This record gives sequence, structure tokens and C-alpha cells, in this order.
Amino acid sequence: MTPLLKSFLEKWGKEVDASLRRALPQSSATIHKAMRYSIFAGGKRLRPILVIAGAEICGLPGKKVLPTACALEMIHTYSLIHDDLPAMDNDDLRRGRPTNHKVFGEGIAILAGDSLLTFAFDLIAKNAKLLRNRCPLGDILHSVAEGAGFPGMIGGQVLDLEMGEGQWQSRKRAEQIEILRKIHERKTAALIQASIAAGAYLANAKRTQIKRLQEYGKKIGLAFQVADDILDRVGNKELLGKKGSDLVNQKLTYPALFGIESSYQKATQLTEEAKRCLNPFGPKSNVLKDLADYIVERTY
Ligand code: IPE
Ligand code: IPE
Ligand code: MG
Ligand code: MG
Ligand code: MG
Repeated sequence: MTPLLKSFLEKWGKEVDASLRRALPQSSATIHKAMRYSIFAGGKRLRPILVIAGAEICGLPGKKVLPTACALEMIHTYSLIHDDLPAMDNDDLRRGRPTNHKVFGEGIAILAGDSLLTFAFDLIAKNAKLLRNRCPLGDILHSVAEGAGFPGMIGGQVLDLEMGEGQWQSRKRAEQIEILRKIHERKTAALIQASIAAGAYLANAKRTQIKRLQEYGKKIGLAFQVADDILDRVGNKELLGKKGSDLVNQKLTYPALFGIESSYQKATQLTEEAKRCLNPFGPKSNVLKDLADYIVERTY
């Protein structure tokens, strides 16, 4: 990781954590404990960092978008809580801790996820109010809802489930490749794309800037999930804080279709394409270019 990216991640990681602490209810009610349990279990904070970087590259200081940064982390964390449930990937370790449902039970885990998702939209609305309506709130809400909802993450998770248990194996190879791309685009890239776009929208960026950042977000999002699939197979479980269940669940993944080496190559190719989308931004885009490289090099 470059020193530039390291200091950016450290600085904003701390700011995001502090904002999350302020935003989340502090009560001892079980539902609130369950929400805090998963949010403060660690996590790379990639999506909130992208909200901030998206705002800054379009000229708005990162501090002004912290509520929306927190919102994107809440949506992401909710998706992890639900992804780990027995009805989905059935995982018992996440971010180095027992999964939410293992500690609080499935009912509370589902509701903690629902609560984080709902809270996120409240935070985005509050953020727009703070900026005194100088940003297109409707566009932001639409874009985040699309990234998180059926056109994006939910739809991707549905496809991922439908293809699980080896159900992809009966399809033709060309079809398997096409479905896999769709799964990655929707379950992971869509929310990553929406994160950087949210920052840009809040900064009242021009359409062309938003489009370029969305394209970058989509490409790093795809690379991110290819890397996640690789790490599921060959990553250090302790570092990852999760055990990796793709093989047990017979998931349709990049390593399953292409092997590890060729998956790496695909991820690297995607990050190179992502970096090219940023050329028009000049040196301002250095952090985001470094971030693209980090996504493939990461070990957790
Ligand atoms: C894991 O996301 C789920 C995917 C979409 C691949 P992250 O790898 O960003 O998880 P945390 O937030 O760091 O725990
Ligand atoms: C999950 O993909 C993507 C989400 C929308 C949560 P995975 O199922 O591969 O994520 P991990 O490996 O459990 O973090
Ligand atoms: Mg999953
Ligand atoms: Mg999973
Ligand atoms: Mg995975």
C-alpha cells in the first residue's frame, strides 16, 4: 500500500468510526447492541472511504459527507449480517468474531440488519439537509436505493443463491461466465459504485464526473469481488476474519471457473481499466488509483 493511501485510510477510517459511534444508538437494548456488535467488529471501511474520496475529488471536503459515509457502511454491514445467516451462506465467523446470528439469534440478526438499512436512508436525508439542499437528494436516494436494492445488491444475492449448491454446473460454460459477471456486478460492484457516486452527488458534481466515477466504481467493485473469491480459497483465515464457505456451498466464483492465476489476471486487468477512468481528474485521483491497486493486492 502506498504511503498516500495508507494515511488517507487511517485518517478517514478514524473519522468514520467516530461518526458511527455518534450516530448509532448507545442504549443497552438488544437490537442496538446487535447493530453496534457488527458495525464495530472491524472491517476495512471501503465504502465510506469511497463516499469521502468521491466528494473530495469533486471539490467538497470529506467532513461534509460523513453521515452518508456512515450510511453506506451501515448498508454494507447489514448485507454481511444477512449474508451470513443459515438460510444464506451459513457462516459463523465474520470480521474475526462469531456472526451476528450466533450471538443474538437469527430473529435479532435479521432485525439488526433491517434497522441498519433503514437508518442509513435517514442519515443520507440528514446529510443533504446539512448541506442546505445544495445537493440533488432525489438523485442520491435513487442511486443508493438502486445499488442496494434489486437492481444491485439484492438482485445479485438472489442470483448467487440460485446458483449455489452447484446449481450453476448444469449450465453451458458461456452462460456460467455471463451469470458470474452479473452476480459480481450486482451483489458487490453496485454498492461500491453507489458509494463513490453518493460522494460526487453530494459535491454537486457534473454529470460527466459522476459517470466517470461510477465507471471506476463498477470496475473496482468487480475486481474487489474477484479478489474476495480468491481470498476465500487461498487467503489467511485469521487475517480475513472469516472462514470462507464458497467451496462448501459450491458457489459460482472466479476461481471455480478460471482457477486462481487467471482470476488474479482478470482482477488486475479490471483495476487497470478502473484507473484509466480517472485520467481526466489528473493528480487529484492518485488516492483512488492507489486504492484500485490495493483492492487486488489486499490480504484481507
Ligand atoms: C465483504 O466485504 C463482502 C463482499 C462484498 C465481498 P468487505 O471485504 O469489504 O468486508 P469488511 O467490511 O472489510 O468486513
Ligand atoms: C457477499 O459476497 C456480497 C454481499 C452482498 C454481502 P460473499 O458471500 O462472497 O461475501 P463474504 O465472502 O461472505 O464476505
Ligand atoms: Mg454470499
Ligand atoms: Mg458470504
Ligand atoms: Mg466471499
